[in-house]
Amino acid sequence: MESTSTPQREKTTTHGAGSDRSGDGVTLIFERSTPGVCAVDLPALDVPEAPAGQGLFADEAPDLGHIGQLDLVRHYTHLANRNFSVDANFYPLGSCTMKYNPRVNETAAAMPGFTGLHPLQADADTQGALRMLYEVRTWLAAIAGLDEVCLQPCAGAHGEYTALKVIRAYFKDPQGGNAPQRNKVLAPDTAHGTNPASCAMCGAGVVQVPSKDGLVDLDALRSLVDNQTAAMMITNPNTAGLFDGTIAQIAKILHDVGALLYLDGANMNAIVGVSRPGDFGVDVMHFNTHKTFSTPHGCGGPGAGPIAVRDFLSPYLPVPQVVKLENGSGGVRYARDWDRPKSIGRVRSFTGQFGVLLRCWAYIAACGPEGLRRVAQTAVLNANYLAAQLRDRFETPYFDPGAGRYCAHEFITVPKDLLAKGVTLIDLAKRLIDYGIHPPTMHWPVHDCLMIEPTETESLATLDRFVDVMNKIAQEVEADPQLLKGAPYHAPLRRLDEVAAARNPTLCHAD
Ligand SMILES: Cc1ncc(COP(=O)(O)O)c(C=O)c1O
Repeated sequence: MESTSTPQREKTTTHGAGSDRSGDGVTLIFERSTPGVCAVDLPALDVPEAPAGQGLFADEAPDLGHIGQLDLVRHYTHLANRNFSVDANFYPLGSCTMKYNPRVNETAAAMPGFTGLHPLQADADTQGALRMLYEVRTWLAAIAGLDEVCLQPCAGAHGEYTALKVIRAYFKDPQGGNAPQRNKVLAPDTAHGTNPASCAMCGAGVVQVPSKDGLVDLDALRSLVDNQTAAMMITNPNTAGLFDGTIAQIAKILHDVGALLYLDGANMNAIVGVSRPGDFGVDVMHFNTHKTFSTPHGCGGPGAGPIAVRDFLSPYLPVPQVVKLENGSGGVRYARDWDRPKSIGRVRSFTGQFGVLLRCWAYIAACGPEGLRRVAQTAVLNANYLAAQLRDRFETPYFDPGAGRYCAHEFITVPKDLLAKGVTLIDLAKRLIDYGIHPPTMHWPVHDCLMIEPTETESLATLDRFVDVMNKIAQEVEADPQLLKGAPYHAPLRRLDEVAAARNPTLCHAD
């Protein structure tokens, strides 16, 4: 475990992006090149030499650098060590569920029987893979408490988009919802940015529903629904870390005007195995399998965002759908079903993100129903423990055990007293990096907040160390706020001009 001792305010070299050439830093691979050195020896040719076809060769060999095997290994090992990852450090990034990815998932995903498959192979030759896809889709339907699951979407946001397309197809269908005018989607003001973005992608107008004490304001909702409303998208537990106990009432308000309830399932690790969205009124939802059922993720991928729907939405799901066919005499085979005339079509090649779905299968199979329930219970316990330990110095606007207000799998703190001492949220976040901890999500869903999600996979010792570090940083703010202004002192790069990095990124090496 890392030490909790205070990293000093020592002067370190300020490195420019990509120019860390000092000490044990990493030079560019081209700078390590020594002409004539090579990392591999190709074996002698054991077939007759034959000329390659015209136009198959580039005019010049690529400038790849000449480097020996050991230097090559060191180069990439240094680079890999500079990654901040959940395998190396605590990563309480709210809403992102950066939890441990069990290695059994990786073992399953690396099995040659799976990695050697090609998606164009015939169904008859890929029965094991199709069975896995069928099972994961039926397991997810059972977890959702809904009727059918489509595995194709390859991220949470992609699931939102697909589901909204399905909802639209349903309302446009005279034999379905038969209400083509329904083109308005409601979303609470705590919604993840992908919710309104998905609506915009589908050409639906978004109407924001205000929150009261972190939860949906029911009166406001009642005043906003009408016969133009197609659906409401809601995250529950929401991004303030609160489970909205009025969810059944919310569902009724929508259903009473003929609209549907959509669940953004990004926070399913708080309720998986404990409550089923279908039971609290949800008509359609997406899973972020890369969060809830664990897959290494980041920078937008890889992921999977299967959607689960009630039976009246099934006809519109994307094709192909993996189905199980029984021949009447006990024989079973799995197949890809393309015959869905009302389908919205494909949203992704083949049957979705196979490797991620396979990891999801392995995770659910390893946990079983009891294990999944423990996932949710532990995620909620860990978050409540942290919130309770921190709230003396880090105000928790929605967490107040004395008043019976607990959080779900994450919580937000708005550390007003510390910020009043002249530091900013970014100063606090940067100082955490010096202690080897990834900063939590910031300024969302409300300004000046940290959204902290410990996840269910962290030990009590790690949670306690985090509390120690947070308290130590609070003491530093009291004693010397200027110290935080210079943080991080121990990262390869210090404070960057983040606006310039986003707006005007220089991605090539400059001398
Ligand atoms: C609440 C919520 N909804 C939707 C998403 C989008 O999911 P994805 O990143 O898989 O597209 C996220 C991702 O962080 C999220 O936290």
